[in-house]
Amino acid sequence: MDKYFILSNGLKVANIGLGTYQLPDDESTSELIRQAIQAGYRHIDCSPSYYNAKAISEGIFTSGIDRKEICISTKARNRERGREKTYQGALDRMKDLNIDYIDMYLLHWPASVKDYDNWKEVNRDTWQGMIDLYKDGIARSIGVCNFLPHHLDCIMDMEIQPMVNQIEFHPGFMQKEAYEYCLKNNIVVEAHTPLGGSRNTGNEELKKMAEKYGKNEGQLYLRWELQKGTIPLPKSTKIERVISNFDVYDFEISDEDVKYLDEMECFVTNNQHPDSVEF
Ligand SMILES: NC(=O)c1ccc[n+]([C@@H]2O[C@H](COP(=O)([O-])OP(=O)(O)OC[C@H]3O[C@@H](n4cnc5c(N)ncnc54)[C@H](OP(=O)(O)O)[C@@H]3O)[C@@H](O)[C@H]2O)c1
Repeated sequence: MDKYFILSNGLKVANIGLGTYQLPDDESTSELIRQAIQAGYRHIDCSPSYYNAKAISEGIFTSGIDRKEICISTKARNRERGREKTYQGALDRMKDLNIDYIDMYLLHWPASVKDYDNWKEVNRDTWQGMIDLYKDGIARSIGVCNFLPHHLDCIMDMEIQPMVNQIEFHPGFMQKEAYEYCLKNNIVVEAHTPLGGSRNTGNEELKKMAEKYGKNEGQLYLRWELQKGTIPLPKSTKIERVISNFDVYDFEISDEDVKYLDEMECFVTNNQHPDSVEF
């Protein structure tokens, strides 16, 4: 399997990204990022709400790998909705990460019906800010996170469509409707929470399935996500796990096991519905 995907605009992006949620803004994170890049990661998923841009930036720029080789992905804050604020937010992100362009810029959450009577207009106006950033060369690709089909529907007729949708996606929680909508519309799905997150205490059945391939449970999840054509974004505070989470290119899950994983009942989820989350 290739280690890159080509997005709908032709941009080549590494097909495993390193998650950075809850990593501290200190030297331990810079060291983790450095070692991850040296182990082969070429895609880092950031967000201003993780408050660790300085440590991540330091790790990237001291890794010994040219910054141009690395897809730096970051996000707009929910409080930055609207065309102008969205644009300004991206400039702030570049300053925090010490970069002069963003490889992938994503809206973190859609404006929802719970918070806005005019949620469709708010999403359209915000997406126009993303289009401006793309056309001005500030963002090399643009996309969204946590958008369900009804959120995507309200921006799909605009001048430029999202290239990526980052959604919770792992065995037992593949959000089939959103996933299939994205496939049909040439939007790459990024799998956030690809290991089921910190609530996942391990699934004995999947551990056994992984052993059959000589792999661990995390590697089974990540390989399935790759075989589904998504970009998983695993996160760990432990370098051994960061390295093992990248060691998923040398085996293939059988069609029968893929089908089993596709159809699993939900056993763990963040449980954050974009129309009801409290942020
Ligand atoms: N756009 C969004 O709204 C959104 C939402 C959630 C997440 N994300 C992105 O997706 C990334 C991943 O999500 P996440 O961090 O919530 O969850 P995750 O990557 O699914 O899981 C992380 C948890 O799994 C553990 N872990 C890591 N590797 C492991 C392995 N090989 N075996 C067993 N356990 C392992 C980690 O613990 P240790 O640290 O102790 O290893 C941590 O508790 C985030 O960091 C963020 O970049 C985006």
